[in-house]
Amino acid sequence: MEARVATGPVPADGKEPILSVEQVNCTFSVRRGLFGKRKPLKALNNISLDLRKGEVLALVGESGCGKSTLSRTIMGLQESDSGSVILNGQRIENLPPLPRARMIQPIFQDPYSSLNPRKTIGEIIAKPLAVHSIGTRQEQRAQVEQMMELVGLPRRVFNSFPDQLSGGQRQRAAIGRALIMRPEVVICDEPTSALDVSVQAQILNLLLDLRDELDLTYLFVTHNLSVVRHMADRVAVMYLGEIVECGDRDSVLSRPRHPYTKALMDSALSISPGREIPDPGLDGEFPNPMNRPSGCSFHPRCPIAEAQCREQAPRPEIIGSSLVKCWKAQPSDNQSIN
Ligand SMILES: Nc1ncnc2c1ncn2[C@@H]1O[C@H](COP(=O)(O)OP(=O)(O)O)[C@@H](O)[C@H]1O
Ligand SMILES: [Mg+2]
Repeated sequence: MEARVATGPVPADGKEPILSVEQVNCTFSVRRGLFGKRKPLKALNNISLDLRKGEVLALVGESGCGKSTLSRTIMGLQESDSGSVILNGQRIENLPPLPRARMIQPIFQDPYSSLNPRKTIGEIIAKPLAVHSIGTRQEQRAQVEQMMELVGLPRRVFNSFPDQLSGGQRQRAAIGRALIMRPEVVICDEPTSALDVSVQAQILNLLLDLRDELDLTYLFVTHNLSVVRHMADRVAVMYLGEIVECGDRDSVLSRPRHPYTKALMDSALSISPGREIPDPGLDGEFPNPMNRPSGCSFHPRCPIAEAQCREQAPRPEIIGSSLVKCWKAQPSDNQSIN
């Protein structure tokens, strides 16, 4: 099978990706202390990633590895140093606001801070229609009511303010606002992690139902592996601004190839269901992105690193149905990377 630069073998149906991230780099300039010198912090290091129409691709990794920066870059909210984000064949920066809004929408983590507290739920969900001057007020109202029904919000909250709603209802409103433009791709950045466990499952199931009903494609950022198991078709594992492994959900979860993925999975086995991973239980702290290790960026914490790993960055290779960045990952299913 032909290798793509991005995230795995070409799918059997040969479908073009709906969204491609191609060799994206993003560096922040960070000042240490009030009078400290500015230093570069490389948050995204040559990221390539494909989203295929209709799939849920989960993006997982420890806090600080760059998941939100990547999500923001994909939405055109964060400028990159180099590389490109291509939506349906067009670079995102070349898409005018309306086609962009019809193409891609975000759902953020915290429904408490992402909704304007001074607007009613009806106004909040209608906002994208108002911004893009779509329809008359009556038509907008009809669309909002229809959307509220789709996301499971009772009509009586149309004139309520966010603080009169439960956390789950607020997130339903945020989902309604994201979907009112009928986008093709939705970027969900930890959309349930601020919610009670009992409400999380309802929202996840709602997102899955909406995917089927509205023909959506999701990039789903999470650091909760039970969420990955529930939602994802494919999984991309991020470490220190890089995708280190990407493949079908079952391969990545049950036959992880990269030592980092393996550590994540092992740590997830030892916690109770519904809890978040991960403290992957690796030696050493999550490294400082302002001071990247040489060679493979995971080598200081890797139990199987050798001289080559310290000196040379590994190139992504296809192993089984996954793309893996590791000198020591084994090609055969029978061989373990232990
Ligand atoms: N606006 C910013 N300015 C400076 N550094 C940032 C900014 N946003 C994120 N970072 C840094 O980039 C790295 C990745 O952050 P982030 O994308 O938020 O990770 P995640 O979402 O995986 O927790 C972190 O080291 C973080 O401190
Ligand atoms: Mg984040």
